[in-house]
Amino acid sequence: MYNYTSYNIYKAVFSPTYGTAHAATLLAEQLDLNIPCEKIKKLDLTTPQARAGRHFFSSNDLVIAGVPVYGGQVPPVEGLFDNLRGNQTPCILLVGYGNRHYDDALAQLKQIMTRQGFICIAAIACITPHTFSEELGAGRPNVEDLRAIATFANALKPKFESYKFEEVELPGNPTPAPKPAKEIPKELNKELCNSCNLCVASCPVGAIDGKTHEIDQSKCINCMRCAYICPSKARSFHVEQAKAWLEENFSEPRQIEWFL
Ligand SMILES: Cc1cc2nc3c(=O)[nH]c(=O)nc-3n(C[C@H](O)[C@H](O)[C@H](O)COP(=O)(O)O)c2cc1C
Repeated sequence: MYNYTSYNIYKAVFSPTYGTAHAATLLAEQLDLNIPCEKIKKLDLTTPQARAGRHFFSSNDLVIAGVPVYGGQVPPVEGLFDNLRGNQTPCILLVGYGNRHYDDALAQLKQIMTRQGFICIAAIACITPHTFSEELGAGRPNVEDLRAIATFANALKPKFESYKFEEVELPGNPTPAPKPAKEIPKELNKELCNSCNLCVASCPVGAIDGKTHEIDQSKCINCMRCAYICPSKARSFHVEQAKAWLEENFSEPRQIEWFL
């Protein structure tokens, strides 16, 4: 049976420093070239405010669910994707990782999205700039990555033409033991900070106090979004040790992997 459905493509992405969001945009554009598509819509799930609205999807929708890999897992953000509800909605899983490995993240993300009513039909692990290093994942996705993303999107075409959606098999443990965020020392330069509160409003887990601008370490997930977005460069994370270890052990560039 040929499928005449035209899809709305949603990029449902948690992406504190925009690397995963960038990869999801490239994928959505390539899907648009291969699959009948009405529109591409962004659903940024990065802040608690953005995750407050509920969204329901039908079988005419296609959702790209994207997260960065943290410690080989989906970031430890309570209720991430709980506000999305699929109804036999096809879903493509995407993880962005900084050239070490994605470990259990794809399997875990599949488990989450399946629970939310989606059929996870395919998955892709893209290399993106590492939050803790200027070297690892720098310039990724690059031209070669774009070619791999285009090949992946093209390989999905027959599934949409025949309307045959089957669950993708993925490596990794879908329910790994949670890893608590490490304590990474952080600094706020009070002379540079002009209390614009952008960091407070943008923190994915509401960890920054609106008056003192102190970070609540028990909530912080070390995503570094506050340092990344600060217009005055008032925030810094002390990641030298992590950076040195990563660059020593994982500098060989990895390639995109995808699963159908
Ligand atoms: C707390 C934390 C843990 C991370 N753990 C991993 C990891 O296990 N493997 C890896 O390859 N990259 C790891 N990274 C790098 C991120 O996956 C990568 O920088 C990603 O692009 C960040 O996504 P974003 O730009 O969408 O926020 C980690 C980054 C952070 C902040």
